[in-house]
Amino acid sequence: MASVVVTGGTGLIGKAIEHVINTEPVGSKFGKLPDETWIFVGSSEADLRDPEETRKLYEKYKPTHIIHLAALVGGVYRNMKYKLTFLRDNILINDNILHTAYTHKTAKVLSCLSTCIFPDDVVYPLDETKLHSGPPHESNFGYAHAKRLVDVQNRAYKEEFGCNFIAAIPTSVFGPHDNYDLENAHVIPALVHRCYLAKKNGTPFVVGGSGKPLRQFIFSYDLARCFIWMLRNHDDVEPVILSVSEEEEMSVKEIADAIVKAVGFEGQYSFDATRSDGQFRKPASNKRLLELMGGFEFTPFEEALDLSVKWFSENYETARTGNTT
Ligand SMILES: NC(=O)c1ccc[n+]([C@@H]2O[C@H](COP(=O)([O-])OP(=O)(O)OC[C@H]3O[C@@H](n4cnc5c(N)ncnc54)[C@H](OP(=O)(O)O)[C@@H]3O)[C@@H](O)[C@H]2O)c1
Repeated sequence: MASVVVTGGTGLIGKAIEHVINTEPVGSKFGKLPDETWIFVGSSEADLRDPEETRKLYEKYKPTHIIHLAALVGGVYRNMKYKLTFLRDNILINDNILHTAYTHKTAKVLSCLSTCIFPDDVVYPLDETKLHSGPPHESNFGYAHAKRLVDVQNRAYKEEFGCNFIAAIPTSVFGPHDNYDLENAHVIPALVHRCYLAKKNGTPFVVGGSGKPLRQFIFSYDLARCFIWMLRNHDDVEPVILSVSEEEEMSVKEIADAIVKAVGFEGQYSFDATRSDGQFRKPASNKRLLELMGGFEFTPFEEALDLSVKWFSENYETARTGNTT
């Protein structure tokens, strides 16, 4: 009987995998198999930086398969301030998960990297061959190097011990259970939260920057389906980028317009072009994913956004909103 443990099971992506596994019909392409158990664990169950707690977790659940999402994640400010902590905590978490999977003969580990760990100076679009072709952006130097090492470890465990350890590389994700903390959130949850507060307080909704930069996102439920597909069907150590296609890049203005509509905000709405825009675009190719899966139908952006905004409004009191007083 298969036992799948999802680390980081309390986070944005973990909750999405739990939703898909519990709602798709049993035995279907993305559903639970009849003889399978899925266990979603957060840091309160085991601090994965600690080898002993990691070992106890493996001995408690005896996983045959692991989806490894747990990581120390954070916004640019925290990444820059705590470079060593981001490097070391993530190295420890990843090394404990992979080495304990090896010693406990876990059949497969699917780990999670990120398109933000690619080289800073790179020819776009990003693709899987470019992961190690130059240093990452200095702002996430610690996090990016720790994540890149997972790919190195996967290859070394395969070569030396024949382990089936693989990795996925998601682009920016959004969905229910996202981090809406205004200090730390990614662009979609940050704008959703700000627009929600503007509506609630009757204040203007101001979006930082010109609104022109282009961004790519994947809805967490779509990402969850891709993870479940990879767990079942993909045993190649070469990582796979999980993203919508480059043609589905959206401008920050298009995203903000969709948020205004989804939130039902009718007040004053503008862009503050004096604020920095960041990089104009950093597209990633999903060619390999589509070839491997033989196509995939992504949820239309507005539908996914409506669902996420509805979740945020209904769960405002318990969502990760940070200090908004
Ligand atoms: N969000 C994105 O846009 C994005 C994009 C690409 C890749 N990723 C990757 O996807 C993965 C999941 O991200 P997410 O957005 O779902 O993050 P998240 O919502 O912040 O969740 C992080 C998860 O990691 C767990 N965790 C953190 N430190 C831990 C520790 N020491 N021991 C055990 N568990 C620990 C947390 O547990 P508790 O909450 O219980 O403390 C939580 O379940 C990460 O590896 C991240 O790098 C995310």
